[in-house]
Amino acid sequence: MADRVTIALVGCGNIARAHWRGIRYHAPRIRVTAAVDANVARAEAMAERTGAKAYASLADALAEGDFDAVDLMLPHDLHEQAAVQCFAAGKHVVLEKPMAQDLPSCERILKAAEQAGTVFMVAEQAQYWPDVRKARELIDGGEIGTVVTARACFYDPLDVDPAAPQPWRFQLARAGGGIAIDGGAHWIRPLRMMLGEIDAAIAATGGHIAGMEGESWAQALFRFQSGVVASFNALLHASPVGNTEDFRITGSQGELVIEHGREGRLLLFNAANPTGKTIMHTFPGKVDSYGTELHDFSQAVLEGTALAASPAFSLGELRTALAMYRSVESGRWEKVWS
Ligand SMILES: NC(=O)c1ccc[n+]([C@@H]2O[C@H](COP(=O)([O-])OP(=O)(O)OC[C@H]3O[C@@H](n4cnc5c(N)ncnc54)[C@H](O)[C@@H]3O)[C@@H](O)[C@H]2O)c1
Repeated sequence: MADRVTIALVGCGNIARAHWRGIRYHAPRIRVTAAVDANVARAEAMAERTGAKAYASLADALAEGDFDAVDLMLPHDLHEQAAVQCFAAGKHVVLEKPMAQDLPSCERILKAAEQAGTVFMVAEQAQYWPDVRKARELIDGGEIGTVVTARACFYDPLDVDPAAPQPWRFQLARAGGGIAIDGGAHWIRPLRMMLGEIDAAIAATGGHIAGMEGESWAQALFRFQSGVVASFNALLHASPVGNTEDFRITGSQGELVIEHGREGRLLLFNAANPTGKTIMHTFPGKVDSYGTELHDFSQAVLEGTALAASPAFSLGELRTALAMYRSVESGRWEKVWS
């Protein structure tokens, strides 16, 4: 049994920096041996940081590189082609969310993974957020009674230079949608972790960011299989906004609040704690979650352990976003899983 899994970082942009930090500090069984980016300067910069070899294309890296696994961090329209190529080469694959832009594409990826028989993970770091896991424990422990309703609020600062050319995530053909299919996933997964599976969604969306073809805001109600209805408010903001909590889960006997930001806390309100008890601080767990996620992947490769969330489970966020988009067209509740 190998001691470490060798990996190629493919796509050395924004999220690659968080993955590299995670590997460095929290995934000791991963060694980066290749850094791949069509932008050669980015590949070289990542290669220098990690001690890996730089490649300008995935094909070159697969032909010449020395690695067992790939970490795919590419624009959404490239996910299927890159994943299928890597499975065909017998690699283990960790693929940034969403698995792909639509379900037929996801099915082809899942089939390629099955044929390869290697480990396949869809990266969703929220699966490893300690505050969300703890909130689920408190709900299961009856601390807030029976869940009545909930609210998720995803306010994401716009991180784009307005003078730069249109980024890929602003292009519908490349991103597959806007905030719901993209960053919204990180708030939909925790809702599923805390409240169970989403049955149906009804939504309204719109755009207020110049040059962005997909929706820059989305308001939705999610009805869970339990019957609980939660609201989901997502907004990409280019101007200052006020404070809001990330999650609020209201029960018959209390409430859980997950505050926003680096100073955020998980708070429990109930009869024993009427003014709110700090259960935990949400950082550094949230920042470290990229490393925890990649460590989970390395353990699955090296030890055959089960991933915290399967690729099939990861379809839930994409399916929810797609149900929201159908609902915008139909004006009705749309089922998530059928
Ligand atoms: N989990 C999270 O919190 C999170 C945050 C941001 C992005 N993401 C996901 O990560 C993925 C990448 O997003 P990003 O924000 O890092 O994008 P990005 O644009 O910052 O980086 C993508 C990189 O891929 C490179 N690239 C493009 N085409 C290529 C090709 N054919 N071959 C090799 N390299 C190529 C680009 O040059 C760029 O450096 C997406 O799936 C996105 O949804 C996840």
